[in-house]
Parts: sequence; C-alpha cells; structure tokens
Amino acid sequence: MIQVAVFSSDVRLEEALRAGGLKVGRMDVDSLNGHARATSPPAALVVDVRGQHHLPTGLAAFRKQHPATGIILVASTLEPHLMLEAMRAGVTECLQDPVTPQSLDQAVRRLLVDAMPEQIGQVVAFVGAKGGVGTTTLAVNTAATLGRTVSGDVLLIDLHMGHGDAALFLGVEPRFSVVDALENVHRMDDAFFRSVVEKTKAGIDLLGSSDRLSQSAADPQRVRALLDFAIRKYRFVMLDVPRSDVAVLDSLETASSIVVVTTQELPSLRSAGRLAHAMRTRYGAAHVKAVVNRFDKRADIAHADVERVVGVSVKHVIPSDYRMAIEALNVGRPVALEKGPLADSLRAFAGDLGGVVKQARPQPAGMLGRLAFRRA
Ligand SMILES: Nc1ncnc2c1ncn2[C@@H]1O[C@H](COP(=O)(O)OP(=O)(O)O)[C@@H](O)[C@H]1O
Ligand SMILES: [Mg+2]
Repeated sequence: MIQVAVFSSDVRLEEALRAGGLKVGRMDVDSLNGHARATSPPAALVVDVRGQHHLPTGLAAFRKQHPATGIILVASTLEPHLMLEAMRAGVTECLQDPVTPQSLDQAVRRLLVDAMPEQIGQVVAFVGAKGGVGTTTLAVNTAATLGRTVSGDVLLIDLHMGHGDAALFLGVEPRFSVVDALENVHRMDDAFFRSVVEKTKAGIDLLGSSDRLSQSAADPQRVRALLDFAIRKYRFVMLDVPRSDVAVLDSLETASSIVVVTTQELPSLRSAGRLAHAMRTRYGAAHVKAVVNRFDKRADIAHADVERVVGVSVKHVIPSDYRMAIEALNVGRPVALEKGPLADSLRAFAGDLGGVVKQARPQPAGMLGRLAFRRA
C-alpha cells in the first residue's frame, strides 16, 4: 500500500521520501483527476508547484473525494494568490523551496501521524557514548517515571541482542525476549505481543534482551516493524539502544527523541560528539538531545564544554550517587521511584522528556492553523 503519492516531475522528491523508509508512489495528471484505475488513496499527497503559478486542476476535486489524504504543497515562493488557492483546495501544509529531504520527510510524517486513527505512542531512544555511562539507568528510570503517570502504557525495549541488562534493573527474568518479537514480527498480533512482553513491578512492560543471537534481529526492517507495532499499543516506548548496532541505529525514524548519554570524561565526550553528529545527520537536529550522567560541577570539563563538544544543548545533568544506584540495582527497583537528589533529577528529566514528547504531537488544528509555512 502506498503511503505517500508524489505529483512532480522531480524524481528527487520521491527518492528522498523513499530513502526515509516510506512507501512512495507517483501520481500523474490522470490519477489526480480520477481517470486512472481506482486504488486506495494515499495517506499523504505531495504536490510540486515549483515554477508554476497555479495548482494543478483537479486537486480540489481530489481533496473532496479523499478528505483523509493530507496534501503538502512544495512551492518556489509563497505568493498570496497561490496560498489562497491552496487554502481553498484544502492543502494541509506548504513548504517553500529550497526543500531538503529532511524537511519533506518531517512534513510527511507529521501528516501521517495525524492521519492515524489509532493511538500513536512516542518513541524515545537512549544511546550511550560508551559502555557504563548510564544508558540503561536512564532508559529504565525514564520509563518507570512515565509509567507512574500513564500506568500500563509504557513499554521498554532492550535492544541489546546479547547481554542487555534492563531486566536486571527491573528485577525480572523474562521468559521471552526482543529476539522472539523480531523473529515473529511479520505475524505479530495482540495476543502474541502480550505473550512476549514481561510485566514488571515498576508498572511498565518490558521486552527484554536475549542471550540468543539471531540473524533476523539484525534486520532494520524488522526493528522498524516492531516499533510500528509497539507505538500502536503504548503511549511511550523507551529504547535501550546498543551504540554499536548499526541496524538498530538505522531504524529510529519513529523516535521523537534520540537521547545521547555521556559523562564528563574525555573518551566518552569525544564519542558522544561523533554519535550526536551521526544521529543529527540521519534524523534531524530537532530530534537529538544529550544528557550528562554522573555530573560533577567541580570537574574540569564544565557544562558548556560538554555542549560545545557534543554540539547539542544539554538541558539536564544527572548527579552521581553510587550508593543509591547500587541499592536500586540490588533490589531491582528503579531509583527514580525512591527519594533523594538522584531520584528527583531522574524524574525531572523524564517529566521534561514526556512533556516535549507531548508537544511534538500537536492536535490537528483548523485549516488555517495547519497551513504552516515552513522554510527548509
Ligand atoms: N547517576 C549515577 N550515579 C551513580 N551510579 C550510577 C549513575 N548512573 C548509573 N550508575 C551506575 O553505573 C553502572 C552502569 O550503568 P548502566 O546504566 O548499566 O550503564 P550503560 O547502560 O551505559 O552501560 C550501574 O552500576 C549503575 O547503577
Ligand atoms: Mg546498558
């Protein structure tokens, strides 16, 4: 099934969307006017009017016939008379040239999310600059904190194919794992999904890591399919991402936030810089965040230095508390559910992330509100 149809003589638009993993088809004058063989309408239609002064005839009629299809206009300039035509034809969003693959992809995804009838949850991915910086700690505690507000609506997926330890932090020993889910992702249904996730005392569901290696686990398409399934079931999906797993790092299009976790140590900062750069290039700067764990304000490397090296503003720093962290791990209860500065800081971070996440999903507004004029 085609998700996005493109009405343009510029094949780069199609290619850009396809490269982002969307199912793209071309629309020609005949199909726009309803003369071609009827197929199910796309969720989004991109109409390229660069170099033209009017909308293609038939667009308004198409929109009337397919009210659920969102329309994105790509224009050279936002001339008033063209905008007026756009408004009358029911265009949802206008992009002004120069349009980057990224701005186009983002505009289309916004439409697709709005068009989804079901609940669509938010994915937050945690990636560590190095091992031991606290990635699992942050993923687990963010999940547990959000789980307190939206009980039963948070899933944590430990994407480490071997030796992941999110289960340990939550005091459970799951019988099934993320590998079972990935291997069966193409015949996934609610019953099967329920049988592979583990309920935890912290009030969140866990898809734990596996000790078993599997070929299918390294397939980005399967990871994407798993995330697509999960966001229809949960309000929040937290990912504990192995930083060296290329397939997983390449499958994070649905993530509203990718959180790079670092400490103030040089090797960790250097690799946080590289990682953040790669993630920004791949998914757009707006989606990449950084957090400093075990922050020490007396350290030589200060908050501003971290921001400079990582290239991302750092809104949250998490203090160090060795005793609390170890105790939490020993009893298998996330530290954010306890008291103290570390717990407070973890909760503030999670709350902020949850809040940001909510804003990233605007409610469909009226026509004029939706007609956003964005420059690439
Ligand atoms: N803010 C912190 N203060 C003290 N210890 C911490 C803190 N964050 C994590 N730890 C501890 O550091 C160790 C490594 O954390 P973990 O989350 O497993 O790192 P990663 O997933 O990046 O390898 C664990 O023992 C954890 O309890
Ligand atoms: Mg870990």
